[in-house]
Amino acid sequence: MSDKLPVLVTGGAGYIGSHAVLALKDAGWPVAVIDNLTTGFRFAIPEGVPLYEGDIEDGELLARIFAEQGMGNGIGAIMHFAGSIIVPESVENPLKYYHNNTAKSRALVEAAVKAGVPHFIFSSTAATYGVPEVSPVTEDSPRSPINPYGMSKLMTEIMLADVSRAHPFNYCALRYFNVAGADPQARTGQSTAGATHLIKVAVEAALGKRGHVAVFGTDFDTPDGTGVRDYIHVSDLANAHVLALAALIENPGQSLTMNCGYGRGFSVLEVLDAVDRVTNQTIERRMEGRRAGDPDSLISDNSRIKATLPWVPRYADLPTIVEHALAWERKLTGLRGE
Ligand SMILES: NC(=O)c1ccc[n+]([C@@H]2O[C@H](COP(=O)([O-])OP(=O)(O)OC[C@H]3O[C@@H](n4cnc5c(N)ncnc54)[C@H](O)[C@@H]3O)[C@@H](O)[C@H]2O)c1
Repeated sequence: MSDKLPVLVTGGAGYIGSHAVLALKDAGWPVAVIDNLTTGFRFAIPEGVPLYEGDIEDGELLARIFAEQGMGNGIGAIMHFAGSIIVPESVENPLKYYHNNTAKSRALVEAAVKAGVPHFIFSSTAATYGVPEVSPVTEDSPRSPINPYGMSKLMTEIMLADVSRAHPFNYCALRYFNVAGADPQARTGQSTAGATHLIKVAVEAALGKRGHVAVFGTDFDTPDGTGVRDYIHVSDLANAHVLALAALIENPGQSLTMNCGYGRGFSVLEVLDAVDRVTNQTIERRMEGRRAGDPDSLISDNSRIKATLPWVPRYADLPTIVEHALAWERKLTGLRGE
Protein backbone atom coordinates (compact mmCIF):
# COMPACT_ATOMS: atom_id res chain seq x y z
CA MET A 1 0.00 0.00 0.00
CA SER A 2 1.44 3.34 -1.05
CA ASP A 3 1.84 6.06 1.59
CA LYS A 4 1.28 8.59 -1.20
CA LEU A 5 -2.00 10.41 -0.88
CA PRO A 6 -3.96 11.91 -3.78
CA VAL A 7 -2.96 15.49 -4.57
CA LEU A 8 -5.05 18.10 -6.34
CA VAL A 9 -2.95 20.77 -8.07
CA THR A 10 -4.76 24.05 -8.73
CA GLY A 11 -3.26 25.99 -11.64
CA GLY A 12 -1.53 22.79 -12.80
CA ALA A 13 -1.70 23.93 -16.44
CA GLY A 14 0.39 27.00 -15.62
CA TYR A 15 4.15 27.53 -15.47
CA ILE A 16 5.05 26.45 -11.94
CA GLY A 17 2.02 24.20 -11.37
CA SER A 18 2.84 22.07 -14.43
CA HIS A 19 6.35 21.47 -13.03
CA ALA A 20 4.84 20.46 -9.69
CA VAL A 21 2.55 18.01 -11.51
CA LEU A 22 5.62 16.44 -13.16
CA ALA A 23 7.53 16.32 -9.86
CA LEU A 24 4.59 14.64 -8.11
CA LYS A 25 4.01 12.19 -10.96
CA ASP A 26 7.74 11.36 -11.21
CA ALA A 27 7.76 10.65 -7.45
CA GLY A 28 4.70 8.38 -7.72
CA TRP A 29 1.98 10.57 -6.16
CA PRO A 30 -1.55 10.26 -7.57
CA VAL A 31 -2.25 13.70 -9.03
CA ALA A 32 -5.14 15.61 -10.65
CA VAL A 33 -5.39 19.22 -11.87
CA ILE A 34 -8.04 21.92 -11.66
CA ASP A 35 -7.42 24.87 -13.98
CA ASN A 36 -9.67 27.34 -15.78
CA LEU A 37 -7.06 27.75 -18.53
CA THR A 38 -7.07 31.57 -18.33
CA THR A 39 -3.26 31.65 -18.50
CA GLY A 40 -2.56 27.91 -18.51
CA PHE A 41 -2.28 25.43 -21.35
CA ARG A 42 -3.76 21.99 -21.78
CA PHE A 43 -0.50 20.82 -23.42
CA ALA A 44 1.39 21.55 -20.17
CA ILE A 45 -0.38 18.68 -18.39
CA PRO A 46 1.26 15.28 -18.85
CA GLU A 47 -0.67 12.37 -20.29
CA GLY A 48 -2.61 10.36 -17.75
CA VAL A 49 -3.17 13.28 -15.34
CA PRO A 50 -6.87 14.23 -15.19
CA LEU A 51 -7.65 17.88 -15.90
CA TYR A 52 -10.83 19.32 -14.41
CA GLU A 53 -11.44 22.45 -16.42
CA GLY A 54 -13.07 24.87 -14.02
CA ASP A 55 -12.66 27.52 -11.38
CA ILE A 56 -11.26 27.07 -7.87
CA GLU A 57 -14.26 28.91 -6.44
CA ASP A 58 -16.68 26.25 -7.76
CA GLY A 59 -17.50 24.32 -4.58
CA GLU A 60 -19.66 21.75 -6.36
CA LEU A 61 -16.89 20.92 -8.80
CA LEU A 62 -14.37 20.66 -5.96
CA ALA A 63 -16.65 18.30 -4.03
CA ARG A 64 -16.93 16.10 -7.14
CA ILE A 65 -13.16 16.14 -7.67
CA PHE A 66 -12.49 15.20 -4.03
CA ALA A 67 -14.96 12.30 -4.32
CA GLU A 68 -13.53 11.07 -7.64
CA GLN A 69 -9.92 11.37 -6.48
CA GLY A 70 -10.48 9.67 -3.11
CA MET A 71 -9.81 12.88 -1.15
CA GLY A 72 -11.49 14.10 2.05
CA ASN A 73 -12.22 12.64 5.50
CA GLY A 74 -8.61 13.17 6.53
CA ILE A 75 -7.05 12.12 3.22
CA GLY A 76 -5.28 14.06 0.48
CA ALA A 77 -3.63 17.37 -0.19
CA ILE A 78 -4.03 20.48 -2.29
CA MET A 79 -1.17 22.34 -3.94
CA HIS A 80 -2.54 25.76 -4.74
CA PHE A 81 -0.84 27.58 -7.63
CA ALA A 82 -3.91 29.08 -9.34
CA GLY A 83 -3.91 32.85 -9.28
CA SER A 84 -3.19 36.09 -11.05
CA ILE A 85 0.45 37.12 -11.02
CA ILE A 86 1.09 40.43 -12.76
CA VAL A 87 2.15 43.10 -10.29
CA PRO A 88 1.40 46.24 -12.40
CA GLU A 89 -2.01 44.80 -13.33
CA SER A 90 -2.73 44.37 -9.61
CA VAL A 91 -2.08 48.09 -9.10
CA GLU A 92 -4.49 49.01 -11.91
CA ASN A 93 -7.11 46.42 -11.02
CA PRO A 94 -6.76 45.51 -7.33
CA LEU A 95 -10.23 44.01 -7.09
CA LYS A 96 -9.31 41.36 -9.67
CA TYR A 97 -6.44 40.30 -7.38
CA TYR A 98 -8.44 40.34 -4.16
CA HIS A 99 -11.04 38.26 -6.00
CA ASN A 100 -8.94 35.72 -7.89
CA ASN A 101 -6.14 35.40 -5.31
CA THR A 102 -7.77 36.06 -1.95
CA ALA A 103 -11.54 35.46 -2.20
CA LYS A 104 -11.18 32.39 -4.40
CA SER A 105 -8.45 30.98 -2.17
CA ARG A 106 -10.92 31.39 0.68
CA ALA A 107 -13.52 29.40 -1.28
CA LEU A 108 -10.96 26.68 -2.01
CA VAL A 109 -9.85 26.44 1.63
CA GLU A 110 -13.48 26.31 2.72
CA ALA A 111 -14.14 23.40 0.34
CA ALA A 112 -11.03 21.63 1.69
CA VAL A 113 -12.09 22.09 5.32
CA LYS A 114 -15.66 21.05 4.56
CA ALA A 115 -14.55 17.83 2.87
CA GLY A 116 -11.74 17.17 5.39
CA VAL A 117 -8.77 17.53 3.03
CA PRO A 118 -6.08 17.98 5.69
CA HIS A 119 -2.96 19.32 3.90
CA PHE A 120 -2.46 22.45 1.82
CA ILE A 121 0.57 23.95 0.09
CA PHE A 122 0.32 27.57 -0.99
CA SER A 123 2.30 29.50 -3.63
CA SER A 124 3.28 32.62 -1.77
CA THR A 125 5.84 35.17 -2.81
CA ALA A 126 8.73 37.39 -1.80
CA ALA A 127 6.33 40.23 -2.71
CA THR A 128 4.81 39.72 0.77
CA TYR A 129 7.97 41.41 2.16
CA GLY A 130 7.60 44.55 0.05
CA VAL A 131 10.92 46.40 -0.04
CA PRO A 132 12.90 44.67 2.72
CA GLU A 133 15.29 46.72 4.80
CA VAL A 134 17.71 43.83 5.15
CA SER A 135 18.84 41.36 2.50
CA PRO A 136 19.10 38.32 2.55
CA VAL A 137 15.50 38.27 3.77
CA THR A 138 14.44 35.83 6.50
CA GLU A 139 10.88 34.61 6.99
CA ASP A 140 10.66 36.76 10.13
CA SER A 141 11.32 39.99 8.24
CA PRO A 142 8.39 42.42 8.36
CA ARG A 143 5.68 41.58 5.87
CA SER A 144 4.69 44.83 4.22
CA PRO A 145 3.65 44.37 0.60
CA ILE A 146 3.79 47.45 -1.59
CA ASN A 147 1.23 46.29 -4.16
CA PRO A 148 -2.16 44.54 -4.21
CA TYR A 149 -0.60 41.37 -5.65
CA GLY A 150 1.65 40.94 -2.60
CA MET A 151 -1.17 41.92 -0.26
CA SER A 152 -3.60 39.46 -1.88
CA LYS A 153 -1.08 36.69 -1.18
CA LEU A 154 -0.33 37.84 2.37
CA MET A 155 -4.06 37.86 3.15
CA THR A 156 -4.24 34.24 2.02
CA GLU A 157 -1.30 33.33 4.26
CA ILE A 158 -3.06 34.93 7.23
CA MET A 159 -6.27 33.10 6.42
CA LEU A 160 -4.43 29.77 6.26
CA ALA A 161 -2.78 30.39 9.64
CA ASP A 162 -6.18 31.07 11.25
CA VAL A 163 -7.80 28.05 9.59
CA SER A 164 -4.97 25.76 10.70
CA ARG A 165 -5.61 26.78 14.32
CA ALA A 166 -9.33 26.08 14.07
CA HIS A 167 -9.49 22.86 12.02
CA PRO A 168 -7.60 19.59 11.53
CA PHE A 169 -5.65 21.17 8.71
CA ASN A 170 -1.98 22.08 8.23
CA TYR A 171 -0.38 24.14 5.50
CA CYS A 172 2.91 25.20 4.05
CA ALA A 173 3.32 28.68 2.56
CA LEU A 174 6.30 28.76 0.22
CA ARG A 175 7.52 32.27 -0.56
CA TYR A 176 9.12 32.10 -3.97
CA PHE A 177 11.82 34.49 -5.10
CA ASN A 178 12.39 34.81 -8.89
CA VAL A 179 11.32 31.62 -10.59
CA ALA A 180 13.07 30.74 -13.86
CA GLY A 181 14.14 27.91 -16.16
CA ALA A 182 12.17 24.92 -17.35
CA ASP A 183 11.89 21.17 -16.97
CA PRO A 184 15.35 19.68 -17.79
CA GLN A 185 13.65 17.25 -20.19
CA ALA A 186 11.70 20.12 -21.81
CA ARG A 187 8.36 18.49 -20.99
CA THR A 188 6.99 21.87 -19.85
CA GLY A 189 8.19 25.43 -19.34
CA GLN A 190 6.97 29.00 -19.21
CA SER A 191 4.54 29.43 -22.09
CA THR A 192 2.72 32.66 -21.25
CA ALA A 193 2.81 35.20 -24.06
CA GLY A 194 4.07 38.63 -23.00
CA ALA A 195 5.72 37.35 -19.82
CA THR A 196 7.85 39.89 -17.96
CA HIS A 197 10.26 37.48 -16.21
CA LEU A 198 13.81 38.50 -17.12
CA ILE A 199 15.23 35.12 -18.17
CA LYS A 200 12.13 34.32 -20.24
CA VAL A 201 12.32 37.73 -21.93
CA ALA A 202 16.06 37.34 -22.57
CA VAL A 203 15.76 33.91 -24.22
CA GLU A 204 12.87 35.24 -26.34
CA ALA A 205 15.19 38.04 -27.47
CA ALA A 206 18.00 35.54 -28.15
CA LEU A 207 15.62 33.59 -30.42
CA GLY A 208 14.55 36.74 -32.28
CA LYS A 209 11.05 36.84 -30.75
CA ARG A 210 11.82 40.30 -29.34
CA GLY A 211 14.14 43.00 -30.61
CA HIS A 212 15.75 43.94 -27.30
CA VAL A 213 15.63 43.57 -23.52
CA ALA A 214 14.80 46.59 -21.37
CA VAL A 215 16.98 47.07 -18.29
CA PHE A 216 14.89 48.94 -15.74
CA GLY A 217 17.24 51.04 -13.61
CA THR A 218 21.01 51.37 -13.71
CA ASP A 219 21.51 53.38 -10.53
CA PHE A 220 20.67 50.81 -7.88
CA ASP A 221 22.96 50.32 -4.91
CA THR A 222 24.51 47.16 -6.41
CA PRO A 223 27.96 46.42 -7.90
CA ASP A 224 26.92 47.18 -11.51
CA GLY A 225 23.95 49.44 -10.74
CA THR A 226 21.27 47.01 -12.00
CA GLY A 227 18.82 45.17 -9.76
CA VAL A 228 19.96 41.95 -8.09
CA ARG A 229 17.56 39.02 -7.72
CA ASP A 230 17.62 35.44 -6.45
CA TYR A 231 16.70 33.21 -9.42
CA ILE A 232 15.46 29.73 -8.51
CA HIS A 233 15.10 26.92 -11.05
CA VAL A 234 11.46 25.93 -11.35
CA SER A 235 12.22 22.19 -11.05
CA ASP A 236 14.09 22.70 -7.77
CA LEU A 237 11.11 24.73 -6.60
CA ALA A 238 8.67 22.00 -7.67
CA ASN A 239 10.74 19.46 -5.78
CA ALA A 240 10.57 21.62 -2.64
CA HIS A 241 6.76 21.32 -2.87
CA VAL A 242 6.90 17.53 -2.93
CA LEU A 243 9.22 17.49 0.10
CA ALA A 244 7.03 20.01 1.91
CA LEU A 245 4.03 17.78 1.30
CA ALA A 246 5.80 14.81 2.91
CA ALA A 247 6.68 17.05 5.90
CA LEU A 248 3.04 18.15 6.33
CA ILE A 249 1.85 14.55 6.27
CA GLU A 250 4.50 13.47 8.76
CA ASN A 251 3.74 16.32 11.21
CA PRO A 252 -0.02 16.90 11.02
CA GLY A 253 -0.04 19.41 13.87
CA GLN A 254 2.56 21.65 12.30
CA SER A 255 2.39 24.29 9.58
CA LEU A 256 5.35 25.83 7.79
CA THR A 257 6.34 29.07 6.09
CA MET A 258 9.54 29.00 4.08
CA ASN A 259 11.47 31.09 1.60
CA CYS A 260 12.31 29.39 -1.69
CA GLY A 261 15.48 30.73 -3.23
CA TYR A 262 19.15 29.85 -3.43
CA GLY A 263 20.36 32.61 -1.13
CA ARG A 264 22.46 34.33 -3.77
CA GLY A 265 21.75 36.96 -6.38
CA PHE A 266 22.59 37.95 -9.93
CA SER A 267 22.23 41.40 -11.42
CA VAL A 268 20.20 42.03 -14.57
CA LEU A 269 23.42 42.53 -16.53
CA GLU A 270 24.94 39.32 -15.16
CA VAL A 271 21.85 37.42 -16.30
CA LEU A 272 21.99 38.96 -19.78
CA ASP A 273 25.72 38.16 -20.02
CA ALA A 274 24.95 34.54 -19.07
CA VAL A 275 22.32 34.36 -21.83
CA ASP A 276 24.83 35.83 -24.30
CA ARG A 277 27.41 33.20 -23.35
CA VAL A 278 24.95 30.30 -23.60
CA THR A 279 23.60 31.46 -26.98
CA ASN A 280 26.90 32.79 -28.31
CA GLN A 281 25.40 36.11 -29.36
CA THR A 282 24.75 39.56 -27.93
CA ILE A 283 21.24 40.57 -26.97
CA GLU A 284 20.49 44.26 -27.36
CA ARG A 285 20.06 45.95 -23.97
CA ARG A 286 18.07 49.19 -23.64
CA MET A 287 18.65 51.11 -20.46
CA GLU A 288 15.45 52.54 -19.03
CA GLY A 289 14.35 54.18 -15.79
CA ARG A 290 13.54 52.29 -12.60
CA ARG A 291 10.07 50.86 -12.11
CA ALA A 292 8.26 52.00 -8.98
CA GLY A 293 8.91 49.85 -5.94
CA ASP A 294 11.81 47.78 -7.31
CA PRO A 295 14.26 47.04 -4.47
CA ASP A 296 18.04 47.21 -5.14
CA SER A 297 18.52 43.63 -4.15
CA LEU A 298 16.13 40.83 -3.20
CA ILE A 299 17.84 37.69 -1.96
CA SER A 300 16.39 34.94 0.18
CA ASP A 301 17.82 33.65 3.39
CA ASN A 302 17.08 29.97 2.75
CA SER A 303 18.39 28.54 6.04
CA ARG A 304 14.92 27.56 7.19
CA ILE A 305 13.98 25.41 4.19
CA LYS A 306 17.41 23.79 4.26
CA ALA A 307 17.07 22.99 7.97
CA THR A 308 13.46 21.76 7.63
CA LEU A 309 13.41 19.70 4.44
CA PRO A 310 15.97 17.38 2.83
CA TRP A 311 16.00 19.85 -0.08
CA VAL A 312 19.12 19.75 -2.23
CA PRO A 313 18.94 22.07 -5.25
CA ARG A 314 20.08 20.37 -8.45
CA TYR A 315 19.96 23.17 -11.01
CA ALA A 316 21.21 26.25 -9.15
CA ASP A 317 23.86 27.05 -11.73
CA LEU A 318 22.80 30.15 -13.75
CA PRO A 319 23.91 28.83 -17.18
CA THR A 320 21.89 25.65 -16.51
CA ILE A 321 18.78 27.71 -15.74
CA VAL A 322 19.32 29.65 -18.97
CA GLU A 323 19.94 26.50 -21.04
CA HIS A 324 16.72 24.90 -19.83
CA ALA A 325 14.72 28.08 -20.45
CA LEU A 326 16.19 28.28 -23.94
CA ALA A 327 15.47 24.63 -24.77
CA TRP A 328 11.85 25.12 -23.75
CA GLU A 329 11.55 28.36 -25.70
CA ARG A 330 12.75 26.54 -28.82
CA LYS A 331 10.26 23.74 -28.26
CA LEU A 332 7.47 26.26 -27.71
CA THR A 333 8.29 27.82 -31.08
CA GLY A 334 7.63 24.41 -32.66
CA LEU A 335 4.48 23.76 -30.61
CA ARG A 336 3.01 27.09 -31.64
CA GLY A 337 4.31 26.93 -35.19
CA GLU A 338 5.89 30.38 -34.74
N1 LIG B 1 6.29 33.10 -11.54
C1 LIG B 1 6.89 33.58 -10.45
O1 LIG B 1 8.06 34.05 -10.50
C2 LIG B 1 6.17 33.55 -9.13
C3 LIG B 1 6.79 34.13 -8.01
C4 LIG B 1 6.14 34.05 -6.78
C5 LIG B 1 4.91 33.43 -6.67
N2 LIG B 1 4.30 32.91 -7.76
C6 LIG B 1 2.99 32.27 -7.60
O2 LIG B 1 3.01 30.98 -8.19
C7 LIG B 1 1.72 30.63 -8.68
C8 LIG B 1 1.84 30.13 -10.09
O3 LIG B 1 2.43 31.14 -10.91
P1 LIG B 1 2.80 30.88 -12.44
O4 LIG B 1 3.99 31.70 -12.75
O5 LIG B 1 2.84 29.41 -12.69
O6 LIG B 1 1.54 31.53 -13.17
P2 LIG B 1 0.64 30.98 -14.38
O7 LIG B 1 -0.22 32.12 -14.82
O8 LIG B 1 1.50 30.31 -15.40
O9 LIG B 1 -0.24 29.86 -13.68
C9 LIG B 1 -1.45 30.11 -13.00
C10 LIG B 1 -2.43 29.03 -13.40
O10 LIG B 1 -3.63 29.18 -12.65
C11 LIG B 1 -4.76 29.11 -13.51
N3 LIG B 1 -5.80 29.90 -12.84
C12 LIG B 1 -5.77 31.23 -12.53
N4 LIG B 1 -6.89 31.58 -11.86
C13 LIG B 1 -7.64 30.44 -11.73
C14 LIG B 1 -8.89 30.15 -11.11
N5 LIG B 1 -9.60 31.10 -10.50
N6 LIG B 1 -9.36 28.89 -11.16
C15 LIG B 1 -8.64 27.90 -11.79
N7 LIG B 1 -7.46 28.12 -12.39
C16 LIG B 1 -6.95 29.37 -12.35
C17 LIG B 1 -4.27 29.67 -14.84
O11 LIG B 1 -5.04 29.24 -15.94
C18 LIG B 1 -2.83 29.10 -14.88
O12 LIG B 1 -2.80 27.80 -15.46
C19 LIG B 1 0.87 31.91 -8.56
O13 LIG B 1 0.01 31.74 -7.46
C20 LIG B 1 1.88 33.00 -8.32
O14 LIG B 1 1.36 34.03 -7.54
C21 LIG B 1 4.90 32.96 -9.00
